[in-house]
Amino acid sequence: MRHTVSYSALFVLTLLAGCAFKNPDPGPQHKMNVFIDSLINEMTVEEKAGQLTLYTSGWTVTGPQLREDYIEELKAGRAGNLFNAHTVDYAIELQRMAVEETRLGIPLLFGLDVIHGYKTTFPIPLAEASTWDMDIIRKTARLSAKEAASAGINWTFNPMVDVARDPRWGRIAEGAGEDTYLGSLVAAARVKGYQGDDLSDPTTILACVKHFAAYGAPQAGRDYHTVDMSDRVLRETYLPPYKAALDAGAATVMTSFNELDGVPASGNHYLMTEILRDEWGFKGFVVTDYTAINEMVPHGVVANEKEAVELAFNAGVEMDMQGGIYSKYIPELLEEGRIDGSRLDDYVRRVLEMKYKLGLFEDPYRYLNKAREEETLYAKELMDHALVSAKESIVLLKNKKAGNSALLPLSKSPKTIALIGPLADNQKDMLGTWHVAGDASKVVTLLQGIRETAPDVTVHYAKGAGFTGNDQSGFNEAVAIARKSDIVIMAIGEGHHQSGEAASRSDLGLPGPQQALLEKIHALGKPVIAVVMAGRPLTLEWMDENIPAIVNAWHPGTQSGRAIAQVLFGDHNPAGKLTITFPRNVGQVPVFYSMKNTGRPFDADNKYTSKYLDVANEPLYPFGYGLSYTTFAYSDIKLDRKEITEQGSLQVSINVSNTGEYEGQEIVQLYICDKVGSVTRPVKELRGFTKINLKPGESQTVSFTITSEDLAFYTRDMSYRAEPGSFTVFVGPNSAEGLEGGFELKLPDAL
Ligand code: NOJ
Repeated sequence: MRHTVSYSALFVLTLLAGCAFKNPDPGPQHKMNVFIDSLINEMTVEEKAGQLTLYTSGWTVTGPQLREDYIEELKAGRAGNLFNAHTVDYAIELQRMAVEETRLGIPLLFGLDVIHGYKTTFPIPLAEASTWDMDIIRKTARLSAKEAASAGINWTFNPMVDVARDPRWGRIAEGAGEDTYLGSLVAAARVKGYQGDDLSDPTTILACVKHFAAYGAPQAGRDYHTVDMSDRVLRETYLPPYKAALDAGAATVMTSFNELDGVPASGNHYLMTEILRDEWGFKGFVVTDYTAINEMVPHGVVANEKEAVELAFNAGVEMDMQGGIYSKYIPELLEEGRIDGSRLDDYVRRVLEMKYKLGLFEDPYRYLNKAREEETLYAKELMDHALVSAKESIVLLKNKKAGNSALLPLSKSPKTIALIGPLADNQKDMLGTWHVAGDASKVVTLLQGIRETAPDVTVHYAKGAGFTGNDQSGFNEAVAIARKSDIVIMAIGEGHHQSGEAASRSDLGLPGPQQALLEKIHALGKPVIAVVMAGRPLTLEWMDENIPAIVNAWHPGTQSGRAIAQVLFGDHNPAGKLTITFPRNVGQVPVFYSMKNTGRPFDADNKYTSKYLDVANEPLYPFGYGLSYTTFAYSDIKLDRKEITEQGSLQVSINVSNTGEYEGQEIVQLYICDKVGSVTRPVKELRGFTKINLKPGESQTVSFTITSEDLAFYTRDMSYRAEPGSFTVFVGPNSAEGLEGGFELKLPDAL
């Protein structure tokens, strides 16, 4: 039977108590504290452990489903949170059980991997980062939150902010790419979008920054593999995006699967307590990744699951995702004095605080409104923004002139196009990895998009090949339609399952028989446009040498085909720029723009310099790269002074002109190199960018401000500061091109 003191009675009583003594208006924080303390006083140890437990509902899973009896656990108060339970109809009954059938009636948190949308699927996160547009990125997160919240979700396991420099790692698709500075801005934008300004607004959901920490650097690019790096690299390259997400207010943090310096993240006191709590002052709660506490047994740092719980708990981890072992062992460990009771209360408090802030104690059903759900799913504002985001994510990699003009954009005048490839008329795969609830039947395919955008064009379609194996039986049909067409568009790349979690690849070429198909079509001598859709950079060296136009569209989501067609036919001039380097081959990996110079920098005339015998050092397409249908010229870089001081700043300005025939957007990028440091510094680091729009013939002066903060790094003694000396500043269209200037940082003791 249900306990007579329900949380709602408690809620009223404690609010009254809070008002009755000391302070006539004790303030919302005080009211919350009084309420939660009273609730914790009511709780048994099992119920406390239950609040620190999260189970999948069994709807969708990404790992072993350990418990099918989660409903029993829920009713017994031993499962305070669920994930993968979405849609109002499904979740409302679970919430009702928690509220009406448990002793204290504490409402559930409902989590879900809302990674790039809930139903309306936006481009994969790596794609959206290519917009370099924080307004677009924030709006995607805001609208995703709104849509997911309408379907019962109040907690997303996103943003994933893991810096990743190895495209073999399939999860590179879920992050913002290789750069720490850009990744930090994207992390903050996503958190602000999900959480809005006020968690009590029922269109907001809790963000969960993941995977803490350094999950993006597994050895050999193999998922879940060992991570080992210096503290300097950890702090300088990998940690800042997590910190930026927390500074933006992220309510929760997820541990990573990997070990770091020999200790799995879920048991890593250095990460979870010393950095997260003591240094950064994080006040929310930490949830593990899926069964990550249990996995410390095979990691080999504990002998059994009970020891794993002790290690995780004492490292500073509040919540166990899907492992089921916090609820099992916390009571015993407490009894044996191996964990501390007041710490247990603190952990529970942090979880209850989030439920309180979301307004769930006031109304546990505030995310469960059927009418709201119906009017929000696939609403026009979501679909419109999905189109904007998809178009802005597309990166034009190559557009060679055919005769006097570039192959792209295509005219809409009557002609015959052969559209070939496994992504040409394919709804599911264009959604990309982790399209959690995205409905494939809503996806606009490229075939549909072209017909809609250029109705006078005749399109012949053939799939030609699949994503795996070597079945070439579709080649003849593809060749036949190519032969009778004026132009061929090849829609090729990866299936949705070929990137994301547990989808590392050792070969980054076009998977399956697609390369053979492409070569066969190319041999016909027709003008070929390659539209590459993938969750990672592919190795496109052959394509770059042989195919005149290459459009990298990533996996663009629900509006895929419409967005790509609008780019191909010039309704949208592409402006995306890569946030991840495209290697020439897998042997170059990891290759990223902010590498070190080495003591033997490349010199073609000297064998004993840092290089390969069989491939250039330079990647195929560098970080920051992306073309437009127009051209931009950079000129006249100016620094308003040659020196800055600790408090001072300098302005760098440059003139950018549109020298082509189309109106277009350009992402102007600023990089800095610290020429001499107490430790070696990268050859350049992004420190600013801006997206401008210019009409043909138009010019604009773009200015950036540099302060000493932009020059700070972890010096030899690990203090974070700028060192005096000479710096080079580069401004240009990508990390490999641009104009440069120089300045000095003068600090007091060096004056
Ligand atoms: C495992 C993934 O690593 C994580 O990112 C995700 O949030 C959880 N599964 C829950 O689905």
